Amino acid sequence: MPTFLTHLECTRCGKHYDHNRLQTLCGDCARPLYPRYDLPAVAAAVRPEQLREREASLWRYRELLPLPATGDSAPVTLGEGWTPLLPARRLGAALGLSRLFIKDESLNPTGSFKARGMAVAVSMAAHLGATALAVPSAGNAGGALAAYAAAVGLPAHVAMPRDTPRANVVECERAGARVTLVDGLITDCGQLVAAQVAEHGWFNAATLREPYRIEGKKTMGYELAEQLGWRLPDVVVYPTGGGTGLIGMWKAFDEMQALGWVDDHRPRMVAVQSASCAPIVRAFQSGEPTAAEVPDARTVAAGLRVPKTIGDFLVLDALRRSGGVAVAVPDDEILAAVPEMAGLTGVFPAPEGAACLPAVRRLLAAGAVGRDEVVVLFNTGSGLKYLA
Ligand SMILES: Cc1ncc(COP(=O)(O)O)c(C=O)c1O
Ligand SMILES: [Zn+2]
Repeated sequence: MPTFLTHLECTRCGKHYDHNRLQTLCGDCARPLYPRYDLPAVAAAVRPEQLREREASLWRYRELLPLPATGDSAPVTLGEGWTPLLPARRLGAALGLSRLFIKDESLNPTGSFKARGMAVAVSMAAHLGATALAVPSAGNAGGALAAYAAAVGLPAHVAMPRDTPRANVVECERAGARVTLVDGLITDCGQLVAAQVAEHGWFNAATLREPYRIEGKKTMGYELAEQLGWRLPDVVVYPTGGGTGLIGMWKAFDEMQALGWVDDHRPRMVAVQSASCAPIVRAFQSGEPTAAEVPDARTVAAGLRVPKTIGDFLVLDALRRSGGVAVAVPDDEILAAVPEMAGLTGVFPAPEGAACLPAVRRLLAAGAVGRDEVVVLFNTGSGLKYLA
């Protein structure tokens, strides 16, 4: 199987970059780079029906992933992806939705969707010769980096806010990562990691600074389509911090449409944030193309405590082009939604995933979602990591 990746492309100025070496942001405008593929060649090489027989992991979409499938470049894998799309009948009945689903990302290695991005990023970093990896994290990304770095045998350095859920700190340390606890937010951790990588020559795997985590996350979009019979849902509700999960799926929809694998029916994308840290919601409502940093960001949903994201313009653009919306929900409703979702579905959600429930209630009350629409809520992580 040849490699279909052709280059990296700046998401703002369009400049092309070589995919055969380690890259970060665009050298001209400091915006994220997106991997681009020879999609006509992929369409000629594989039909969606042929995927049915493939392995139950995100590597089933190998032609749409950056790692060459030739030579000695085997993926660094722990079995990530191909998570279940569960019909949520009891929760749907309680809400008055006839076709509600939960995409349960808690079943990924390390208990969150962050495994998808790190599997692909660590595979590529190792393939391209990185000797040590570092990441600023709100929690789950650090745990995922630690696990994949351990799997391939590279040192990992993780910077997290001091009050990150304990499970995230412990899982990093058990996997041999060096953890630095920072008195501040993920943005402060990002500054620390930037200085560390400059000093020590580590590779910075911060989301969207590193160009391939989004490729792992986009497979959530491919899976949605495949699990629904190559038809996309009407509404996707996604807890949004840095936003890579949401824009990754949007990238997948663009690719799948170009491949002729789906028609032009796109889901309305709904970004869910905590009312006490809602930069995307604020910018969406005021019509801004980018989001101002939120001072004093606080929320029980640790993964949503992202006061500023480098991909803000991409998230806002995807929301608007999809006809979607950004919704803020207060922390007390997020906390109450954890047992409600668990008790009506059997899925014990992370608070980030639970936040989708009060968001959907608001959309239903506003008439923004129809009772018979296909609605997918993303449970992005396991509630077991938040017991403290
Ligand atoms: C469980 C969980 N859900 C959602 C998010 C937000 O993801 P993203 O940064 O891709 O928007 C995070 C990020 O840390 C997370 O850990
Ligand atoms: Zn650029």
